[in-house]
Amino acid sequence: MVKANKNNSLDLTLAKPFEPLLNPCRYKVVYGGRGSGKSYSIAMLLVLAAYKEPLRILCAREIQKSITDSVHQLLVDTIDRLGLLGHFEVQKTQILGKNGSRFLFEGLRSNISKVKSMEGIDRVWIEEAESVTNASWDTLIPTIRKDNSEIWVSFNPLDEMDATYQRFVVEPPPGAFVVKVNYDENPWFPETLEAERLHLKAKNAALYAHIWEGDCYANKDGAYYADHIIDKQISTIPVDRALPVNTAWDLGVADATAIWLFQVHGKEIRFVSYYESSGEGIQHYLDELAAYKHEHGIQWGHHIAPHDIRVREWSTGQSRQEMAANLGINFDIAPSLPIIDGIESVRRLLGAAWFDEENCKAGIRSLRNYRKEWDDKRQAYKTKPLHDWTSHCADAMRYCAISADTWESQPVLSLQTSRMRLAAYVAGDSSIGY
Ligand SMILES: Nc1ncnc2c1ncn2[C@@H]1O[C@H](COP(=O)(O)OP(=O)(O)OP(=O)(O)O)[C@@H](O)[C@H]1O
Ligand SMILES: [Mg+2]
Repeated sequence: MVKANKNNSLDLTLAKPFEPLLNPCRYKVVYGGRGSGKSYSIAMLLVLAAYKEPLRILCAREIQKSITDSVHQLLVDTIDRLGLLGHFEVQKTQILGKNGSRFLFEGLRSNISKVKSMEGIDRVWIEEAESVTNASWDTLIPTIRKDNSEIWVSFNPLDEMDATYQRFVVEPPPGAFVVKVNYDENPWFPETLEAERLHLKAKNAALYAHIWEGDCYANKDGAYYADHIIDKQISTIPVDRALPVNTAWDLGVADATAIWLFQVHGKEIRFVSYYESSGEGIQHYLDELAAYKHEHGIQWGHHIAPHDIRVREWSTGQSRQEMAANLGINFDIAPSLPIIDGIESVRRLLGAAWFDEENCKAGIRSLRNYRKEWDDKRQAYKTKPLHDWTSHCADAMRYCAISADTWESQPVLSLQTSRMRLAAYVAGDSSIGY
């Protein structure tokens, strides 16, 4: 802890981990567990900065339905605590400094165009940034372009695959100041929170590590595959043009369709991409695959789908299998096996699996979170999976695993095969159009 300043009536004390925030830096990122002093410290530093010189400070978060969701009140309390009320005018939706400083408050998701048009922002503070999406970051960051402007980020990590965690902790921008801080470094850690902390510590170790120690939430309770995918299996997996790319699908009618794209090399199964969408007809997915094929210059191997692809659609009288076949994708139907046997097959397959970190990100996240359904009455897990956002991805993986007989030991495409395919393509053979 340092006494940063003693200036007239101002008694400014900053906890040690936050000291580097006093130095200029493009990105200042503070993350960690509950009650570590993140919000208080940043509020204090920004109020002091706005008091010292005229600054435009945007306080944003992913979703801000009303001003009460924002740090407006925290800033007002901080101004009061610092004895600076005489230097600011507090309005309902903004705080104005008598020196021309201005605090503004916005939600990124609903008001991104407004944020984009804001000029001359000196500081942005993104609070509770764990839920900020890549889309929001990609739009926000280029709009903060004034000389010496700074982006301050504070959050409690939730999932290691979250955009904010990936962007600022896993691969921080060069020169960024990034610090993890927990309750034990907060000299003012309140008694009430201490009681809560001890209570949770005794009750739930995983949740405790997340909430109080600032770790990502790794709730493996009831998870089928969380222990079967280790970080070592996730890296950059380039697409090998000498190997066919196979696909394994789960087709949703009303809900999501999920597709794993994988290559087989000896005993290795390399998942090179994952695609998921919803509310689209089969044509959409075939178009996506066509684009993928074109981009990577690959040949298709097997396409695997569950047996319900044979069901005829009342609107066309055709099954989706027939529709896909007309468009050049011939599906192999995965055998019908009890789910639990399929889950065992996936576990075996995961032992030999590799995943491309970037292109399989969403799929890995779903697989790690795919879990058993909890039965509240019996206070025990049911023997079946929970149907949620992870199901389609996990089902597609299951169809992949139980069809291993179909795609195992695929030959490396010989040059001749490639030439033949090329010749067929030139001759207009529609079966290789996708
Ligand atoms: N500079 C300070 N002066 C006085 N009290 C402080 C100061 N910093 C933190 N505290 C106390 O510590 C508590 C926790 O701080 P703060 O709310 O900033 O933590 P946080 O890391 O933002 O927590 P959360 O992750 O729950 O949002 C505050 O409610 C306040 O009681
Ligand atoms: Mg906080």
